[in-house]
Amino acid sequence: MSKTKAIILAAGFGTRMKSKHPKVIHELLGKPLVSCVIQSAKDAGVDEICVVVGHGSDQVKSAIQEEVSFVMQAEQLGTGHAVMMAEDFIDDEGKTLVLFGDTPLITSDTLKALLATTVAQDNAVTVLSTLVDEADGYGRIIREDGHFLKSVEHKDATEEERAVREINSGMYCFDSQALKSALSKLSNDNAQGEYYLPDVLPIIMSEGGQVQALITKNSDEILGINTKVQLEEARLILQRRINKAHMLNGVTIINRDQTYISQEAVIGQDAVIYPNTFIEGASVIGEDCIIGPNSKVVNSQIGKGTKVEQATVLNSKIGDETTVGPYAYIRPNSQIGNHVKIGDFVEVKNAVIGDGTKLSHLTYVGDADVGKNVNFGCGTVIVNYDGQKKYRTTIEDGAFIGCNTNLVSPVTVHARAYTAAGSTVTKDVPEESLAIARSRQTNIEAWVKKNR
Ligand code: UD1
Ligand code: CA
Repeated sequence: MSKTKAIILAAGFGTRMKSKHPKVIHELLGKPLVSCVIQSAKDAGVDEICVVVGHGSDQVKSAIQEEVSFVMQAEQLGTGHAVMMAEDFIDDEGKTLVLFGDTPLITSDTLKALLATTVAQDNAVTVLSTLVDEADGYGRIIREDGHFLKSVEHKDATEEERAVREINSGMYCFDSQALKSALSKLSNDNAQGEYYLPDVLPIIMSEGGQVQALITKNSDEILGINTKVQLEEARLILQRRINKAHMLNGVTIINRDQTYISQEAVIGQDAVIYPNTFIEGASVIGEDCIIGPNSKVVNSQIGKGTKVEQATVLNSKIGDETTVGPYAYIRPNSQIGNHVKIGDFVEVKNAVIGDGTKLSHLTYVGDADVGKNVNFGCGTVIVNYDGQKKYRTTIEDGAFIGCNTNLVSPVTVHARAYTAAGSTVTKDVPEESLAIARSRQTNIEAWVKKNR
């Protein structure tokens, strides 16, 4: 079966971003620009994707988590040249989309329509175009009797052509065979001395291929990011799009412009999201959760009816009816159960916390396995690091850890055992016993009278 492929151009540095980093790895709601395009292509049913990299190629490659292949364009000699670099990737049959790594707002629906139009109209290529008020800088679509005639770059356009409001989005769906054949004939004979991709259009027409422009109404989708001002504009458009979809799905968002949710996050019905909250990556928030204000949840799963207030949760899993915060920090690889209380100034890292356990205040639990219904007094520290290695500690079901206990790892507090407040525990504590590890108090009578 013939394949649908996509080539994504991402070799330019993006000088106008005024950044040390290549443009396409800048993030929109936690996702690199180029990955937004990759995701839309995948969602549109594209089988294979090739990203053309150049400037900062190592950084671009490591920022991309999705499965794609790469080709190198060492010198940026134009968009047509960039596609030539991917020549071996282009099949002799099927369709090839050409997309830009810096137009992150393109949706899979529009790409599907672009593909469907190409097939239905039997086009050799369909150019995605749109109508804008401010066309400066874009290529213009020139029509004759309503039919596509050519695409002229702004720099090369006449006054009359510059008045045209239909612009070339830079995105195309090609019949793969037609693209391959036209690329071999592309020249750089123009004012800029560049290989312009739009110049393959007249070549395809001269070979008898049909070229059409599909006008999308959503001109937002073709917004190219060149500066950090446009990056912020794109963020706002995407954010409103995502938040609106969640609200229509039954999520309460208190303030849509102060809530930052990734494209892949899933949020259950009747969850309430308070302002200044960031839900990033592939996070899943259960029904009836209350998240925020001022919270960040990254790549984490949160069960039903759980509350996360003024807290950060990274790469972790939290159960149902649990409360986290205010002012808590859940670091990666933590698994927190149901009906747990993680209170203020509590940090949990790489730990398992059983159902019904309470860590109410000022506590650090790192590299530990904690059972069910354990009570932590205020100021408990799991001393997991000796300066060279980290060790794990175990606290079994029903244990009671007194205030200000240090548990020097590795150590085990067995079921229902107690530690006395202020103890530094270095030896295992047997079941149902009390560990006291502190010096006894001595009162020196009349000390003040004698010494002061
Ligand atoms: C391009 C189109 C223009 C269209 C506009 C839409 C050309 C010649 N012009 O212009 O018709 O209206 O996009 O935004 O195609 N790139 C490479 N290698 C290169 C050159 C570019 O990978 O040698 C990449 C860039 O990194 C960028 C994308 O291609 O992601 C577009 O290049 P850019 O120089 O921004 O093209 P525009 O001038 O915007
Ligand atoms: Ca551009």
